[in-house]
Amino acid sequence: MKGTMKTLSEAIRDRRSTPSFDGEPIPPNDLRMILQAGLDAPSGYNMQPWRFVVVQDPEQRKRLRAASYNQAKVEEASAVIVACGDRDGWRKDLDEMLRLGREGGMPESYAAQAAQTVPGYLSSFSDEQMTGWLNKQVTIATTHMMLMAEVMGYDTAPMEGFEQDKVCEMLRLPMSYWVVSLLAIGHLKGPDKFEGGRFEMAHTVFGEEYGKSLK
Ligand SMILES: Cc1cc2nc3c(=O)[nH]c(=O)nc-3n(C[C@H](O)[C@H](O)[C@H](O)COP(=O)(O)O)c2cc1C
Repeated sequence: MKGTMKTLSEAIRDRRSTPSFDGEPIPPNDLRMILQAGLDAPSGYNMQPWRFVVVQDPEQRKRLRAASYNQAKVEEASAVIVACGDRDGWRKDLDEMLRLGREGGMPESYAAQAAQTVPGYLSSFSDEQMTGWLNKQVTIATTHMMLMAEVMGYDTAPMEGFEQDKVCEMLRLPMSYWVVSLLAIGHLKGPDKFEGGRFEMAHTVFGEEYGKSLK
């Protein structure tokens, strides 16, 4: 970590999708702090279906680049976090989720209901629904990591430009895994990306119902 931490507002204001990285390794404690911010994210029923593969080895980064439409920043970044969801995570993790919850004061009535509802809800999903559910959960965790990295003075680049089958194969992911996105982390090399700009709030935000402006 270089210098003092930025505030969250500063990190949000300054963040750009980094076009090029200098490749300097990230100290392991910094990386763990970034990862922990992701693991602290909220998830549906607290099922935490995310799984992350951290790629730092230069040869492995090169292979990941080849599975990511040859995007140079995949190879240049200090670390690339491959953010995945496990379609079957809930089957293995339900009991542990309930145990942790009870430890933190989860009421017995809530635990009993969750033990019924979670398997009923998630086992009814089509493949497409499960993918959508995983995309939601994993993206919140990845966003936590991206912003924590920015607060700590790192530069980041979220990426969806990769080939699902190739990434699964090169990382030897289990069949139940779905790759949601990549998050490259490191330090900017050269000029930063242009500011893309954002639509006016009136274009994307409504008040009370569609089409009404927010008061
Ligand atoms: C989910 C997601 C996937 C993205 N995938 C890529 C990508 O594969 N390659 C890339 O160069 N930029 C990628 N981007 C970066 C976007 O182009 C960028 O966020 C957008 O242009 C706004 O610029 P800014 O992030 O600098 O504000 C991705 C961004 C998001 C949020």
